Amino acid sequence: MSKINTIEDIDYAGKRVYLRVDYNVVENGKIIDEFRIKQSLPTINKLLASKCSIILASHNGRPDGKPDEMLSLRPVAQALSNLLNKKVGFVDDCVGEEVSQEAHSMKAGELLLLENLRFHEAEEKNNSLFAKSMANLADVYIDDAFANAHRAHASMVGVPKYLPHAAGLLMEKEYNNLNNLLLSPKRPFVAIVGGAKISTKIEVLKSLLKKADTVFIGGAMANTFLQAQGYNIGASMTEVDSIDIAKDVMKIAKDNNVNLILPKDLVVAKSIEDGVDCRTVSIDNIQKDDIALDIGKETMRDLIPIIKKAKTIFWNGTLGYAEINEFAWASKDLAHLMSLRKNKADTIIGGGDTTAFIEKLGMHNRFSFVSTGGGASLELLSGKKLAAIEALRS
Ligand code: ADP
Ligand code: 3PG
Ligand code: MG
Repeated sequence: MSKINTIEDIDYAGKRVYLRVDYNVVENGKIIDEFRIKQSLPTINKLLASKCSIILASHNGRPDGKPDEMLSLRPVAQALSNLLNKKVGFVDDCVGEEVSQEAHSMKAGELLLLENLRFHEAEEKNNSLFAKSMANLADVYIDDAFANAHRAHASMVGVPKYLPHAAGLLMEKEYNNLNNLLLSPKRPFVAIVGGAKISTKIEVLKSLLKKADTVFIGGAMANTFLQAQGYNIGASMTEVDSIDIAKDVMKIAKDNNVNLILPKDLVVAKSIEDGVDCRTVSIDNIQKDDIALDIGKETMRDLIPIIKKAKTIFWNGTLGYAEINEFAWASKDLAHLMSLRKNKADTIIGGGDTTAFIEKLGMHNRFSFVSTGGGASLELLSGKKLAAIEALRS
């Protein structure tokens, strides 16, 4: 299979670069999280050091092919400018006469951020004329939008057809880290998977069960597993339709000799709200109106020696309803346990909500690698090919 082009494979010095980034970080007109913007800086700085001019392109949100002021990328131009300590221009569109003029009048070292690509339905439809008109803005194409690499959209797979193309430093780092997790993890390899729904994690679970030595299941997902084992889970979130999937996963674990760990105690409450009374109960003691919202201390205690021995630790999916402080303890515990292993094990975190949780704790520097990807990282770890990565092959 042909290799993925990296920056070093193309001649970019002094060129006008179309840099596809994932700045899907604006909600209601405000930046909710700068992590993805910060992670794009190494590529931008490398290009600036080589006297490139850079046209930055990204989608934001799901505007359904129509302009929406609340989803404009304008605030990102300012944030990026603050981070780089350098002017970042902004244009109100991503194609058209004005954009073309702005792009072609750029001088070495200048930056221009285009407006949200998804304001045109042609982006998600992967329209080739739209891709071509964006390609006409630049001399080379660099893709650093790993978090969007599973989307076969015009800016991801169309534009690189018309220009010399390569993966940016973030794309390369994301791909290498997550791919190595599947190809050559150091052992013992522990995977911790939580979150809300099995149905969104089934592929990644099956893939990890082929690679890991231990798989720990937390989050609401664990409820469905417990139900599959015959426990009464009260009023907890579950996916009744996925009980067979849970049984299947347990069988795969057994067949592959994987140590599959489920919670043995849970933090429960009668409602999901800040400050609500909660108690920790054993899994065979859940009352009819109890909602399981976090993993209990005994279960977390069992995890300590396993984490301490592990050489690779991968975590996706919060262990509880971590948006509410009362139910964020197990996830916080796990983050701290993993961070203590930083220099002794590969500690890798992926998933949109999990990464946001880590960012909120201010801990993203305390792991070997925190992915900017949500869906993209899960698809890659499921063993699927990502459309944008394929488009970067030479
Ligand atoms: P990621 O985006 O990192 O892949 P998920 O979206 O799968 O993670 O999971 C995070 C979501 O799971 C959070 O919104 C969290 O509230 C929810 N969650 C975790 N545990 C529970 C639980 N016990 N009950 C309800 N929701 C839960
Ligand atoms: C993400 O945040 O997962 C990516 O930016 C893709 O966004 P999408 O799920 O709206 O396509
Ligand atoms: Mg999520």
